[in-house]
Amino acid sequence: MSGLLHIPSRAGIFSRQAHADLPAGSYEREVGREGFGGQATHFYHRHPPTAWSDWDGPHRPRAFDFNPLAGEPCPLEAPTAAFNDHLRLRIWKTDVPMQHLARNADGDELVFVHAGGGHLYCDYGHIEIREGDYLLLPRGTMWRLEPSSPSFLLLLEATGGRYRLPDRGLLGEHALFDPAVLDVPQIDEHFLAQQGTRETRVRLKARQRISTITFPHNPLDALGWKGSLVPVRLNVRDIRPVLSDRYHLPPSAHSTFVTDRFAVCTFCPRPAETDPGALKVPFFHSNEDYDELLFLHAGRFFSRDGMGPGMMTFHPSGFPHGPHPGAYKASMEAPRKHLQEVAINIDARDALQIPPAMASLEREGHVDSWRGYLDTDPNANAHGNADARVEAA
Ligand SMILES: [Fe+2]
Repeated sequence: MSGLLHIPSRAGIFSRQAHADLPAGSYEREVGREGFGGQATHFYHRHPPTAWSDWDGPHRPRAFDFNPLAGEPCPLEAPTAAFNDHLRLRIWKTDVPMQHLARNADGDELVFVHAGGGHLYCDYGHIEIREGDYLLLPRGTMWRLEPSSPSFLLLLEATGGRYRLPDRGLLGEHALFDPAVLDVPQIDEHFLAQQGTRETRVRLKARQRISTITFPHNPLDALGWKGSLVPVRLNVRDIRPVLSDRYHLPPSAHSTFVTDRFAVCTFCPRPAETDPGALKVPFFHSNEDYDELLFLHAGRFFSRDGMGPGMMTFHPSGFPHGPHPGAYKASMEAPRKHLQEVAINIDARDALQIPPAMASLEREGHVDSWRGYLDTDPNANAHGNADARVEAA
């Protein structure tokens, strides 16, 4: 019966509190449904859950480096890095002003500025975007970008859907960020100055196919507007992450934008846990219902060895993932007091596909990047708290 209910059963040696006071010599693994919000069980293993010695077959952890990617003048033509029926992640590099307008009718577009930025003009007016900005463009918005410098952007389409802010629940409406920090485009002098009668092409993406509509004038000619369906800009520096001194919070605590089928979380600089028994890096876990993408924006990711800005890991469901050996060891022996990195985490409810074109950007050997654990003698594993409150059922 307990498999159908949220009533924990117990066997053997375990910690009464997840992610804390691990039994000495054990590695914790969380197996969960519905991401971090459903039923879950915590195992306490003798060996690290990612200490495989070989992996044969196509379903595996993968890593990609987008830094060598070439530029592309039209965002709608930017190469797709991952997709399913409900999301499409494109990587867009550009350093030239768009000579046309783009209109994505397939879903809301969440733009993240990894590098660069510039002046963006859209139906709603003019807004500047810079490194660290999210810009949420409602489905069907016409827009163009004039980059101020070479730019590297993520375009995350909520295919057939829409973004909303996550439920802040007990934290209240002003936690994580106050909605008042969201900015919207303005009908300003920059916007009015670009209006006119020059012929303008609008490239329309609908049903994942591109059509072109030509106007004898610039259709970004609004004199004003009112309403609640608007683009919004949020900079990661305005996010004030929640944290616990005594408990490593799951990625879902860092949700920034959500849809019905995926969540976009932002890991921002924050103090690390200090409680002696609390884990200081993410726990090993397998979200059996979710595929995970993790893009590093800035810094050195605290739980991943050998990952730099502009890179992304893909950890589909079906096997556990977790901290790399170097990061795990450091977190136990000399834990960092403050985390400086900024990363974008996308947890998708539906299986993601990686287009074959991404193979040239793949970093070979990611599946073997946990091999350092094989050198770990489980009987010599002093990690964990010998004074932990553990019980034998
Ligand atoms: Fe994960």
